Amino acid sequence: MRYRIASVADVRKDGYLFTVRDAHGEETEVFLIPCDENEKPPVQAWVNNCTHEQQRLYREEIGVVTRDGEIICPKHGSTFDSCSGYCDSGEAAETTLLSVEIEVEDGQVYLTDDDVRFLHDGPSDDDDDDAPDSTSHLQL
Ligand code: FES
Repeated sequence: MRYRIASVADVRKDGYLFTVRDAHGEETEVFLIPCDENEKPPVQAWVNNCTHEQQRLYREEIGVVTRDGEIICPKHGSTFDSCSGYCDSGEAAETTLLSVEIEVEDGQVYLTDDDVRFLHDGPSDDDDDDAPDSTSHLQL
């Protein structure tokens, strides 16, 4: 089954955020980002988490920061290819963002990933993951 998320025209350079429920019942933020127009599909969907630490790449105030086809982590500046999700520099080097399966047809973006279910546009209502790193609350 597939679910229409947005039109390709809605996906701006700073991303398009939505929330899904994952296979574990957790709310997970995902963002759409334009990919190189010559690549197929012209949009990719990445889980809104840096691979280095539990940090959002899409922030409500600024969206996703991009430069020359790369997503820049606002925390430590690692850069991820918008199309492949691969990071070749910074703290997250040699990792790849978690993807969510989508399809683009007739200018519309559809969620096709059987492991997740679309909940709503915008950020997750579960706000407890705003903390930079859950382990940072631990005190010895
Ligand atoms: S949290 Fe993204 S590079 Fe460190």
